[in-house]
Amino acid sequence: MKKLTFSALLLAFFCGMVSTAFSQPAQPAETTCFESRKGASEVVKRDLQPGLPNVKCSSKTGAVLWWSDPFDGTVPMGATPMLDHIPAGKAVVKSRSEKLALMPMCGTACHNGVGPKFNPPKLPTSKKPVPTPIMAAMVPDLQNLQHGRGRIWCIDCHHTTQRNKLVDNFGDPVSFDQPQLLCGKCHGDKMRDWRDGIHGKRIGEWASTGKKRWFTCTECHNPHNVQDGARNRGFVQLAPESPPQLPKGMKDAKHELVHGVAH
Ligand code: HEC
Ligand code: HEC
Ligand code: HEC
Repeated sequence: MKKLTFSALLLAFFCGMVSTAFSQPAQPAETTCFESRKGASEVVKRDLQPGLPNVKCSSKTGAVLWWSDPFDGTVPMGATPMLDHIPAGKAVVKSRSEKLALMPMCGTACHNGVGPKFNPPKLPTSKKPVPTPIMAAMVPDLQNLQHGRGRIWCIDCHHTTQRNKLVDNFGDPVSFDQPQLLCGKCHGDKMRDWRDGIHGKRIGEWASTGKKRWFTCTECHNPHNVQDGARNRGFVQLAPESPPQLPKGMKDAKHELVHGVAH
């Protein structure tokens, strides 16, 4: 009896091994590419239908070059002034909150206002800059916060008591999924351009009344590093894409130099 149980177990064990070996063929390595900001807007390549990938990615930069479904993984854009004429569901965005690793803890584990558990234990009483070594260790871009060139600080953007929210001019909380309501309080011109479709990016249906995915400010801009490090201006640089293939029979593109575009 004992022996039978043992061999049954052994058989079950080997069957298990064999069936796992057969039912799980070697998975190809997972491809992750970024949609707009490297390190902050990554998507995992997968098939939406057999043979139809959700995105095509550049093998050089790792940037998404094409979306098969522009609305994949989007949520409705929250209420934004001057955009309330857009019918519900026609303006969609990708949620930022789900990309932020620390966010679920910010307002609950650490800055819950009941300290002194952590250092700094209490919620700030003023907006003035104070050393934030623990935060800077967790988010390296905060070591040298250049946004506003020394004239703005955490609490100008983050809500004082609700740390998993941003803040508007009234001190009311703003969702991380609506950064336009934060950025727009200081960058009104860019906010207007973005609203009008001159700044930023939208993908989706061509018709002006069609459904579109809007890219929000923080999908492209890193709020803690709007002046890239030593360059002290603009974005972190990417190596550009290779030039497109020349048409058949053309050896080089020197003819383009003949009629140079006036700058
Ligand atoms: C100009 C506005 C602005 C300022 C100033 C600012 N932040 Fe942020 N911060 C943001 C926004 C917007 C996000 C969300 C970024 C995103 O969606 O990628 C964020 C995200 C964060 C996160 C979450 C990161 C994660 O990956 O989960 C932390 C932590 C943080 N900020 C801390 C700070 C601290 C500490 C300071 C001050 C030293 C500061 N921030 C200053 C706007 C700001
Ligand atoms: C409290 C006001 C304030 C808020 C909120 C704010 N900014 Fe700024 N931002 C500034 C100031 C001030 C500057 C510095 C302009 C200068 O002196 O060059 C600046 C600079 C910038 C720059 C760099 C401009 C350049 O010349 O390269 C970018 C990009 C930018 N902000 C984007 C954002 C985005 C995106 C958000 C929202 C996440 C945001 N800002 C929120 C005040 C703000
Ligand atoms: C699809 C990406 C994208 C989105 C979305 C986006 N921006 Fe930008 N933004 C850029 C690029 C690229 C530049 C740099 C243009 C240049 O260097 O001339 C820029 C420049 C800026 C500047 C600096 C302009 C200057 O004069 O140097 C500010 C401020 C800014 N954006 C704010 C915003 C705000 C606020 C939002 C949201 C309402 C936003 N951006 C959304 C890509 C984006």
